[in-house]
Amino acid sequence: MAESRKIAGIVLAAGKGTRMKSDTPKALMPLLGLPLTAHVLRAMETAGIEPIVVVIGHRAEEVRAALGERYRYALQAEQLGTGHACLQALPELPPEVQTVVVAPGDSPLITHEAFQAMLTLHQNTQADATLATAVLEDPTGYGRILRDGHGRVVGIVEEKDASPEQKAIREVCTSFYCFEVSVLREMLPRLSNQNAQGEYYLTDVIGIIAQAGGKVATWQSPDPALLMGVNNRWELAQAAQALRMRTLKHLALEGVTIVDPATTYIEPTVEVGHDTVIEPNTHLKGATRIGSRCTLGPDLVLQDTQVGDECHLFRSHIVGAQIESGVSVGPFAHIRPGTVLKQGVRVGDFVEIKNTQVGEGTKVLHLTYLGDAIVGQECNIGAGTITCNYDGQRKHQTVIGNRVFVGSHATLIAPVTIHDDAYIAAASPITDDVPSEALAIARCRQTNREGWVRRKRESINAQGKEGATNE
Ligand code: UD1
Ligand code: MG
Repeated sequence: MAESRKIAGIVLAAGKGTRMKSDTPKALMPLLGLPLTAHVLRAMETAGIEPIVVVIGHRAEEVRAALGERYRYALQAEQLGTGHACLQALPELPPEVQTVVVAPGDSPLITHEAFQAMLTLHQNTQADATLATAVLEDPTGYGRILRDGHGRVVGIVEEKDASPEQKAIREVCTSFYCFEVSVLREMLPRLSNQNAQGEYYLTDVIGIIAQAGGKVATWQSPDPALLMGVNNRWELAQAAQALRMRTLKHLALEGVTIVDPATTYIEPTVEVGHDTVIEPNTHLKGATRIGSRCTLGPDLVLQDTQVGDECHLFRSHIVGAQIESGVSVGPFAHIRPGTVLKQGVRVGDFVEIKNTQVGEGTKVLHLTYLGDAIVGQECNIGAGTITCNYDGQRKHQTVIGNRVFVGSHATLIAPVTIHDDAYIAAASPITDDVPSEALAIARCRQTNREGWVRRKRESINAQGKEGATNE
């Protein structure tokens, strides 16, 4: 590496993204759980490029709120082109910055390694500008790199301005650049908008630098797909596919078994421990963290959920929960935000749990709703138990102690507390607190009417002859 220079980043994200045909600004189009532009920002940050100035314009406040206050922002009030956008960012750069990395906000497959490799080349060659290029089978839509007889870059021509011969060039501009800031400050104001789109193209600054005798280096990615731009929804889908496979491959190489990559959806924000097995049709989203030696899926959605080691979660929908080690959930459970399942809890079919803590070793195995409850350790919550937490106006809490046995079809009408070691008889509506070690039974006594069926049958037979009578 050459001497270390002060580096900053600029990300261009002011455009509307007309080709997306969306009400959402392009920078915020969702891609594997993050806004499109957030992927570029994450790669830049991981590469150690800081500060980053994001150029915003179309629905600027919305974009800024979604991307967050970690970045600096420059406003491009009118979208007059990528060169004009870059110019707006310059005043936001701290004065000591010598080198700036410029990236388009619509190329989400970029990696921090690619940024680092580009910067290293830029510094080693002491270039004024370094341009990341890619050689594509089908260069349609991209700016083409123009080189002279010695292979030196002399400029870039946009597809809309290109002659048929130029369109045949397969080396394209990816819109990733490194610039010496002093050069950029001098050259950017020289751009003109005399082109097919009437815009100030950042691409033209390369020709201007080359013409002025500046040094332009090129960095070619070993994998051109990294530099792919996303301009429409089909490209968005392709980028999602590529990013998904990259995430799965990374996890697999870290010791996670991915049984079927084609049906496994894991967002790049998710962490998974080694020897965890991911069965088909599993979706892991957002700030989800999974421990080691778990089995997840088939048919599972987990969002923003922390999971310990050796859990078995399948065919269920789990959002915003904290699940400790040795827990099993499924099939057909719905675990909602604010739920904590302590070590060794077992949750079975058709169980919904919301904003509830379930203590160690407790079983909630069938047809149950627990909402706004605290349940102790080693309880048995019988089939069909319902916490009636809502009175139509307010939510109330149910508290269940340790080792409580709740018989099937109990309705626990909150607010109510069931103390340690209590026993709730099946089918009881519980309205009052239950003391420790008590049996609570709240139901009508059964009466058996001996011979009732026989009498009814006889009466029906008699009706057949004499007409209807009631018993
Ligand atoms: C641009 C390049 C093209 C390159 C391609 C790579 C130019 C003129 N063309 O084309 O050579 O092959 O990227 O993906 O640079 N933006 C602004 N303000 C504006 C216009 C655009 O901030 O006034 C932002 C957009 O939000 C987007 C990025 O700049 O994130 C690139 O703009 P886009 O319109 O997608 O340019 P391309 O047509 O893809
Ligand atoms: Mg683009």
